[in-house]
Amino acid sequence: MSKHFDVVVIGAGPAGYIAAIRAAQLGLSVACAEGNAYADPKGEPRLGGTCLNVGCIPSKALLASSEEFEKVQHHLDDHGISVSGAKLDVVKMVARKEAIVTKMTKGIEFLFRKNKVTLLKGYGKFVGKTDAGYQIDVAGEVVTATHAIIATGSKARHLPGIAVDNKMICDNEGALNFETVPKKLGVIGAGVIGLELGSVWRRLGAEVEVLEAMPTFLAAADDAVAKEMQKLLTAQGLQFSFGVKIGEVKQGKKGVTVNYADQDGKAQVLECDKLIVSVGRAPNTDGLNLESIGLKANERGQIDVNDYCQTAAVNVWAIGDVVRGPMLAHKGEEEGVMVAELLAGQAGHCNYNTVPWVIYTSPEVAWVGKTEQQLKAEGAAYKVGSFPFMANGRALGQGDAQGFVKILADATTDEILGAHIVNAHASDLIAEVVMAMEFKAASEDIGRICHAHPSLSEVVKEAALACDKRALNM
Ligand code: FAD
Ligand code: NAI
Repeated sequence: MSKHFDVVVIGAGPAGYIAAIRAAQLGLSVACAEGNAYADPKGEPRLGGTCLNVGCIPSKALLASSEEFEKVQHHLDDHGISVSGAKLDVVKMVARKEAIVTKMTKGIEFLFRKNKVTLLKGYGKFVGKTDAGYQIDVAGEVVTATHAIIATGSKARHLPGIAVDNKMICDNEGALNFETVPKKLGVIGAGVIGLELGSVWRRLGAEVEVLEAMPTFLAAADDAVAKEMQKLLTAQGLQFSFGVKIGEVKQGKKGVTVNYADQDGKAQVLECDKLIVSVGRAPNTDGLNLESIGLKANERGQIDVNDYCQTAAVNVWAIGDVVRGPMLAHKGEEEGVMVAELLAGQAGHCNYNTVPWVIYTSPEVAWVGKTEQQLKAEGAAYKVGSFPFMANGRALGQGDAQGFVKILADATTDEILGAHIVNAHASDLIAEVVMAMEFKAASEDIGRICHAHPSLSEVVKEAALACDKRALNM
């Protein structure tokens, strides 16, 4: 007889492992299947998915290292500190990143043991459904589940005719593991990965040229943020071409040649030592044998779900990158908790309107809720409050005076509709506005809260006050 679980989660990325842990906390018997896409040197699966192995965590480790290198070389002079002879050991930097990844992925194995989540090593695929529940085959062993949660995540999307070998032509996986700093780095796609990993290698000394298909920069961000970031990143040395059409890409012994048409349709050539292809991600649904349970992926490769992450098959749920919505770790985690709570009989929910976005460039970009252009398009009546970090003493003192906070609030009710931050600490500062929006706060609420002085958070307060044209320090 096959083993039976209340819940079998397929995929141990942030969506899946969090769903598994929360379901186990709520007293359900839980197993989680993980293939060896991110295997350790012995070929054993490493948990944590894209996020821990080749995404959020390793990229932030390299962003931190490269920021330190840049700081020591260029940003201490103002403080009266001169440093000479700073040297870079890329292999050591990458090894540090790997050690962090190993620690984090091992941490999830520990959490599984602590919460009595059974780890099933191998790729899971549906076999069918019997009275005992859904049958799921994991590496030849079939288990049954009352509820199945599909959390198989995503992989890098590649472009036709561009063979990614993760040595010279790389997606996110290879781009996190260069052994030396390329002299010239080409990047296709000025999205989040292009900007973050482009920044890493630029700070370490590469000349970085980014080719973007869209005619404008960061189309999803608030226009004010996009404009400011394009200016700042260009000043740092990233080179951008917009509205390009990528043509033939050839890999030679020493480098890569990218033929493309610029926005005027003129033929151009980019020669580089390495090329990063970062043009979005594709959901992982191949091999799940969804047909055996009456499901199929939609035309974008995602599994269709409702607001509660229920699929069309009863008791089959899908969460994270494999479903609609932003491909963000914390969005998948929220969905994992929601689904676990729902199937334990609780009132789980996920507020998609308050999922924050962060781009970890320097300065960072963070936003939540609506952009000003979205509000305009909706014909909404809104007010805007903006405040620059340049007018904040703490920001000046610590050399983090770039950027601003912009808050959008309803013109009548004053409810906060969105917030947009450009600053070195935007990823942390946005949390206050996310919380305020979750409580349906008005801009006046933030304006009336006592914020510590001196702190960067005072800029959030001033921007809230500016919604009513009553900023105090400007
Ligand atoms: P994944 O993390 O992709 O995990 C899915 C897991 O399922 C994988 O381990 C896979 O091996 C496994 N799997 C697939 N098929 C099967 C199967 N049939 N059986 C068993 N196992 C299977 N997001 C942020 O929020 N912040 C960031 O800073 C950030 N930085 C990023 C940087 C980079 C370079 C990249 C590439 C992504 C980044 N992301 C970031 C996005 C984030 O990594 C994803 O949104 C997140 O990992 C999605 O979680 P998930 O659990 O849905 O899927
Ligand atoms: P992306 O969707 O952010 O950006 C892809 C970019 O490539 C877009 O600007 C798109 O217009 C462009 N593009 C697409 N096809 C192209 C073509 N043929 N030629 C030139 N440009 C082309 O995708 P990216 O950067 O690959 O990241 C994938 C996802 O991973 C992100 O959407 C995000 O969800 C997640 N991520 C999140 C991070 C964070 O939260 N800080 C960091 C990195 C990734």
